[in-house]
Amino acid sequence: MTAKLINGNEIAKQIREELRQEVIHLKEKYNVVPGLVTILVGENPASVSYVTAKQKTSKELGFYSVQDNQPENISEDQLLQLIDKYNKDPRIHGILVQLPLPKHINETKVLYAIDPKKDVDGFHPVNVGKLMIGEADYLPCTPAGIQQLLIRSGVQIEGAEVVVVGRSNIVGKPIANILLQKQKGANATVTICHTGTRDMAFHTRRADILIVAAGKPKAITADMVKEGAVVIDVGVNRIGVTPDGKAKLCGDVDFEAVKEKASMITPVPGGVGPMTITMLMMNTVKAAKLHAGIR
Ligand code: GUN
Repeated sequence: MTAKLINGNEIAKQIREELRQEVIHLKEKYNVVPGLVTILVGENPASVSYVTAKQKTSKELGFYSVQDNQPENISEDQLLQLIDKYNKDPRIHGILVQLPLPKHINETKVLYAIDPKKDVDGFHPVNVGKLMIGEADYLPCTPAGIQQLLIRSGVQIEGAEVVVVGRSNIVGKPIANILLQKQKGANATVTICHTGTRDMAFHTRRADILIVAAGKPKAITADMVKEGAVVIDVGVNRIGVTPDGKAKLCGDVDFEAVKEKASMITPVPGGVGPMTITMLMMNTVKAAKLHAGIR
């Protein structure tokens, strides 16, 4: 079997168009404009490029958007005060602090300082807890994007054997939690594999849907995949530079071999990646609606 490609760029574009229409509607009917601030500390090149892309998309969708750049040597107290300012700003519905932060700043403390109602990353423990009990307002962006890719590609999630490789707080744990909820687009049987798993292939070979966020190139080879499985590759490994100076990327899945076995597969780049920013936009629209009491 040669797998059908799940085109993240196309699906993300479709969702952004739906959001653009919703933003027009919110403005016309309720005079509500979703507001997003992205806070960048320092000049980490990957972070700069992510934040630039988030700003660009939010402007394209008609948001009120603020880019707040802070120097590498900002103190933890100053950053906490800045967050407090945006917590109180009624024009801002979503606050995103780009990670990682410099070493002298306690990341947990910073994430805890964001008003959970404005936590469009879904990283605050209140939102993590709400997800756990099936009451989430905001799903973390990358896992939310994976669920949308599956739903919009017509994949049968309910009752499926889902195997997640990786247990990070940003991807592995939340995607497992999302897909096990007794809800539409979920209700799967979920297994999480990690570095402590004794026989990884035993589990991955059982997967109808295999989600890989291991952070290791070619962690998943063809012999670890069931014929006809749906494979979602969350890996973003920088393996060099293209002739035009861009980072050359590869996923965590041995794409060329696995695509001959899977029924559907996401490419890297162009699979999960484009969905993450789009889900941030979706969360910001939701935050604006929650703030205004619009259902
Ligand atoms: N750094 C890498 N991914 C993310 C993300 O999803 N959110 C934030 N805030 N920082 C990140």
